[in-house]
Parts: sequence; structure tokens; C-alpha cells
Amino acid sequence: MQLAEKTVLLTGGSAGIGRAMARQMQAKGARVIITGRNPERLDAMRAEGFTALEADLSHPAGVDALIAQLGDAELDILINNAGQLVDHDFRKGTPDADAADEAIYANLSAPIRLITALVPRLRARSQAAIVNVTSGLAIAPAARQPVYCATKAGLRFYTLALREQLKDSAIQVIEALPPVVDTQMNDGNPMKKMPAEECARQILAAIEQGRDEANIGMTRALRIADSISPALARQITLRF
Ligand SMILES: NC(=O)c1ccc[n+]([C@@H]2O[C@H](COP(=O)([O-])OP(=O)(O)OC[C@H]3O[C@@H](n4cnc5c(N)ncnc54)[C@H](OP(=O)(O)O)[C@@H]3O)[C@@H](O)[C@H]2O)c1
Repeated sequence: MQLAEKTVLLTGGSAGIGRAMARQMQAKGARVIITGRNPERLDAMRAEGFTALEADLSHPAGVDALIAQLGDAELDILINNAGQLVDHDFRKGTPDADAADEAIYANLSAPIRLITALVPRLRARSQAAIVNVTSGLAIAPAARQPVYCATKAGLRFYTLALREQLKDSAIQVIEALPPVVDTQMNDGNPMKKMPAEECARQILAAIEQGRDEANIGMTRALRIADSISPALARQITLRF
């Protein structure tokens, strides 16, 4: 699918991988509507010519408010990119259950609620796409982040099933599985990180080339390890 002239709703487009995707899609001639929570970041994106909508996606009312702000705008592409990393580690004390609930909503429930609301208008287009950004940790989990990994594995399975449901429609259903990327999410993470721009480029290439999945960087090696032995893949990621 060509991105030129397409209208895209991109959640979490005010920072990190989302911001890099927004800029690259705009350069390709797409109309990009981004969302985020931080007002200053949203203003900065407006100054770059984006439509930027404030929306807290960690609860149902925030998603509904976003859908209301969209009005009856036509959409060609929905990219569910907003996500929250949350540590949940009993080795360091009792984890924050509310933080876990928020992350579950933002990472899993909000994409499902947005898809549910927006599939009818995507169906009205001659070509459309839904892109769900999961993670290499949807393949095998990290010990520190069981909640985050559960949300990403949940979104991965939702995506696989949705693709089957929509296979005879004009809506392409794509999963993007980033590796460790150099964004605020990884502040203080000593691991080698991929630049956000390169990760964004590979996600957009999957859309343009009509691929079902973007297995990016180290995720590709993890997929191979998992296909040989899931226990081997887990041995790699549980230490993260
Ligand atoms: N970075 C990595 O290594 C990595 C690896 C694998 C997968 N991913 C996935 O890639 C996606 C983008 O990650 P990133 O590293 O670019 O993250 P990031 O730099 O932290 O940016 C996250 C974006 O999502 C928005 N956001 C976060 N929580 C939100 C919420 N509850 N409601 C509304 N907006 C929210 C943020 O907006 P505000 O700041 O305004 O709230 C921001 O625009 C996420 O789904 C993440 O799980 C990242």
C-alpha cells in the first residue's frame, strides 16, 4: 500500500517510535493524526503540521473521548502504537496493581476498543490497514515485566485471529514486533538499542510491502530461536 494521500490515526505519535513513524509518513505524503497525553509534546507535533489529539488511553473513557474527537473522519490506516512499560517484580517488593491495570488497558484493551470502533470506517475504504505494535517480548517474556509481556502476547494473539477474520476484506492486519529501541521507554537500559527512526522505517516498509509482520532487529533472531526451541527463546529473554 502506498502511504501518500492516506489518512492515518497513530496512537502514541508524540514520542519515540510513534513520532518517528509520524514524521516518515508525513514525508511520504500521508495525513497523520497523532495522539498522546503530554500537552507540550502534542503542541510540538502541531508545530510540525500534524493534527494532534490529547487522549489518555489507559481507561475506556479516554478511548471513547478520542473516538468522539475523530468525529466521522475518514481513515485508511489505524496504528495502535501507544504503550506503557511497567515493571512488576515481586523480587523487589509488592508491585503496584493500579499501574498494572493501567498498562493492561493502554496496551491491550485500548487497541481492541479502537479497532472495534473503527473497523466499519476502515471497511469503507478500498485499501486499509490495522497495525498493532507488539514487541519481541510477545514471543518470550522478560522476568521483570510479566504484565507488559502478557499485554503484548495478548495483542499478538488478537492480531493473529483478527487477520484471519478480515482476510477476505480490504483491511490488511499487520503486527510490528520491535526489538530494544532507543526511546524514553528504555532510559537507563544498558542493552544495545536500535534507533527509533530505523524501527519506524521497518514498520512502514511492512505496510508498503503488504507484509503481515515486521520482525525487527533482534526480534527476528528471537523468532528463529523460538521456532527451534521456545525454552531457548525464554532463556534469552527472561534475563532482560
Ligand atoms: N522502545 C522499545 O524498546 C520497544 C520495544 C518493543 C515494543 N515497543 C512498543 O513500541 C510502542 C512505542 O514505544 P516507544 O518506545 O516509542 O514508547 P515511548 O517513547 O515511551 O512513547 C510512547 C508514546 O505512547 C504514548 N502513550 C503512552 N502511554 C499512553 C497512554 N496511557 N495513553 C495515551 N498515550 C500513551 C506516549 O504519549 P505521552 O508521553 O504523551 O503519554 C508516547 O507518545 C509501544 O507500544 C511499545 O510497547 C517498544
